[in-house]
Amino acid sequence: MMPLNLHEYEAAARERLTPTAYDYFAGGAGDEVTLRANRASFDRLALRPRVLVDVSRRSMKCDVLGADAAMPILVAPMAFQRLAHADGELAVARAAGAAHTVMVLSSLATTPMEEVVVAARPSRVWFQLYVFKDRGATRALVRRAELAGCTALVVTVDAPFLGRRERDVRNRFSLPDGVHISNLAGFGKDELPREAEGSGLAAYFEKQLDVAFTWKDLAWLRETTRLPVVVKGVLRADDARDAVAAGCQGIVVSNHGGRQLDGAVAAIDALPEVVAAVGGKVQVYLDGGIRRGTDVLKALALGANATLLGRPVLWGLAADGEDGAKRAIDLLAAELDLAMALCGCRSLAEIRRDLVVRAP
Ligand SMILES: Cc1cc2nc3c(=O)[nH]c(=O)nc-3n(C[C@H](O)[C@H](O)[C@H](O)COP(=O)(O)O)c2cc1C
Repeated sequence: MMPLNLHEYEAAARERLTPTAYDYFAGGAGDEVTLRANRASFDRLALRPRVLVDVSRRSMKCDVLGADAAMPILVAPMAFQRLAHADGELAVARAAGAAHTVMVLSSLATTPMEEVVVAARPSRVWFQLYVFKDRGATRALVRRAELAGCTALVVTVDAPFLGRRERDVRNRFSLPDGVHISNLAGFGKDELPREAEGSGLAAYFEKQLDVAFTWKDLAWLRETTRLPVVVKGVLRADDARDAVAAGCQGIVVSNHGGRQLDGAVAAIDALPEVVAAVGGKVQVYLDGGIRRGTDVLKALALGANATLLGRPVLWGLAADGEDGAKRAIDLLAAELDLAMALCGCRSLAEIRRDLVVRAP
């Protein structure tokens, strides 16, 4: 039976994936408290719908860093998409393109970025950057993203080390033969170590990523590229102000889907202070736990310009390739459209703060 919602896509995907791949996609760090909190906090917010508004015409068109998207739902950067389906990032790019939205492509993609940019039509691919100790490789990656036609850089700042994801430790997570970190091949960084013990991805991070990277270095990065820079992984007002001061054009409020610091605040609970701190100077996006159209509406009511969708895209991809990824996005968009109608909102601008209240 065709999945009716994103939860059902997860169940369908689980049947198709190896347990190791499913655990890698689904899991979080530590006790997975933050992973659960991302969802639970959405459920604690209640909606206060407005009635008797003429909702015969509605639009969820949205401006993200100057690009027009058909919906305030972008595809979050996620590594190793070929573990979900042979078409991997290409299928997700086609799905995002067909949905007229942005795909954020992970540094740890398993497909060359030039092919992904071509597959996404109309092409709105942002490149997610991990900062490597090897600054030369980092600079080359940025330059390559520019030349490939990526239109923004999303610098992930919540992962100097990998969170301890115990499922991956137990499974000794690594990449199967034939799956590589494609865009780092030129630098000898395209394989995960096959550790005797533990997660190969955690070992890769420890060896390769720059743990000394600071706001000052971010300003350096800003100067090395003409692309707008978005920082991903901010959960506090002071960090949000630092991001604005460093010249960033966007902030993703995120705890990495509960995969980094377990016990970190739920993303939706951190959103209001970040929105207040930036005071409209830059765009603010949110990810973590979005599974229903009403979740998107709540995030927008609390001040997000758009949201990013993570795991459900992989569930769609694993269940049915490009069509599944596209349908997962479409289901969420249809739910948002209905939620807007039922809340008396005809446009994203009408999704205001007073629509949401904390449930007693
Ligand atoms: C399998 C997987 C791989 C991920 N890989 C990356 C990555 O390479 N870079 C990054 O910035 N975030 C990565 N993330 C985090 C997502 O971009 C996003 O923050 C998170 O998944 C959103 O939460 P959700 O899955 O609950 O929607 C990954 C998440 C998952 C589930």
